[in-house]
Amino acid sequence: MNSQIEPEQINDQGHLTIGGVDSLELAAKYQTPLVVYDVAAIRHQIRAFKKVFAKNQVAAEVSYASKAFSAIAIYQVVAQEDGHIDVVSGGELTTAIKAHFPMEKVSFHGNNKSKEELELAVQNGVGMIIIDNFHEIDLLGEVLDEQDATATVSLRITPGIAAHTNEYIQTGQVDSKFGFDLESGQADRALEEVLANPRLKVVGLHAHIGSQIFEVVGFEGVAKKLVDVAEHWHEEFGFQTRVLNVGGGFGIRYVQEDQPLPPEEFVDAIIKAVKKEVAKKGLSMPAIWIEPGRSIVGPAGYSLYTVGSRKDLPGYQPFVTVDGGMGDNIRPALYQAAYETVYAKDPRQKPEETVRIAGKYCESGDILARDQALPKTKPGDLLVMLDTGAYGYAMASNYNRNPRPAVVFVENGHAQLVIQRESWADTCRLDLPLASEDK
Ligand SMILES: Cc1ncc(COP(=O)(O)O)c(C=O)c1O
Repeated sequence: MNSQIEPEQINDQGHLTIGGVDSLELAAKYQTPLVVYDVAAIRHQIRAFKKVFAKNQVAAEVSYASKAFSAIAIYQVVAQEDGHIDVVSGGELTTAIKAHFPMEKVSFHGNNKSKEELELAVQNGVGMIIIDNFHEIDLLGEVLDEQDATATVSLRITPGIAAHTNEYIQTGQVDSKFGFDLESGQADRALEEVLANPRLKVVGLHAHIGSQIFEVVGFEGVAKKLVDVAEHWHEEFGFQTRVLNVGGGFGIRYVQEDQPLPPEEFVDAIIKAVKKEVAKKGLSMPAIWIEPGRSIVGPAGYSLYTVGSRKDLPGYQPFVTVDGGMGDNIRPALYQAAYETVYAKDPRQKPEETVRIAGKYCESGDILARDQALPKTKPGDLLVMLDTGAYGYAMASNYNRNPRPAVVFVENGHAQLVIQRESWADTCRLDLPLASEDK
């Protein structure tokens, strides 16, 4: 059986269960393709992160990077867990507002926030605006003048560290599109500009070095770099860094070859690195903020697909085609992301063939998985792709005018629809016919 499936996820009929509910029942009730989240797994991960900070007695925020999956229901779950969120658009912010998420626990990111987006953030009292560039300093200043308001802000810097799965390069990523560069003095100039505007209450520094990171070395590097900047800003400008935000990027296991550390170990290493550097430099300890996205919702998500057609060619891996594809999960087509898939009716059944799981979209590249060992499936069988909770539904599209799937939250044996399935009619609901022309 797939090693990611726990024995207790198999019920008396031998079926895969998610959050205590039979996956075949979920598919029958809500149809497929379907995205299902095990809410207990989401809560567990948020709590695990928080616990490390509490154990180390460090002031902190665990800020869920909601670009990984944004919906009213997920914001409600994070609020119940007393978490923080980051949003990157007016749409994500509006979703959080509709979820009645406490606005003081929202960070607003983005490298090209529009004036309207900043207005929405200021009107709603968003707790932290993470300023990315000089244009934004001016634009936010304008909005605050117009609204006679103030805003708490941090500055995003480009740390000159590019993290890869298991290495990091000190000099890489200096030309990232995000944030203020350090070497050229842009970051210093940004701080001076922000300090000069009494409407901007600058409290900290932010950096994000990448995603799906498997080792602590990159995070230790960014922690050190941020404390270096904090020391420089203290000496040069008398500025005291109160919030040090090291971003997200904690890697998860998608396939057997992925060997990430438990996310908590990353946090432990970050705390140690910050404490060490701060002590060395005689600075006061800032609060540490992290922004995990993938590690909170990725492993909690499952994609349910029904098998349809298949294609067999002598000498080639067969295609088993399902009723979803790149429209509900673009990651395999976009960057060859790999996933593991199980046969829902009997995940313990011995594999009989190795197949490609093809999507139904009109692109040759719409292959959801390759080299997938499975029992011999037939049309109507249910397949469940594991760990699809991050950047799957969040990146879903209506390509080919296929409706986007429904999303269901499952907890304690109870399933609840949290995003409705789109209909065919929904796919053209914004279309307007040509105005009739008088001839
Ligand atoms: C600024 C920032 N924070 C956090 C994240 C979340 O990263 P992950 O989902 O890998 O944890 C991202 C992802 O792109 C990001 O850009």
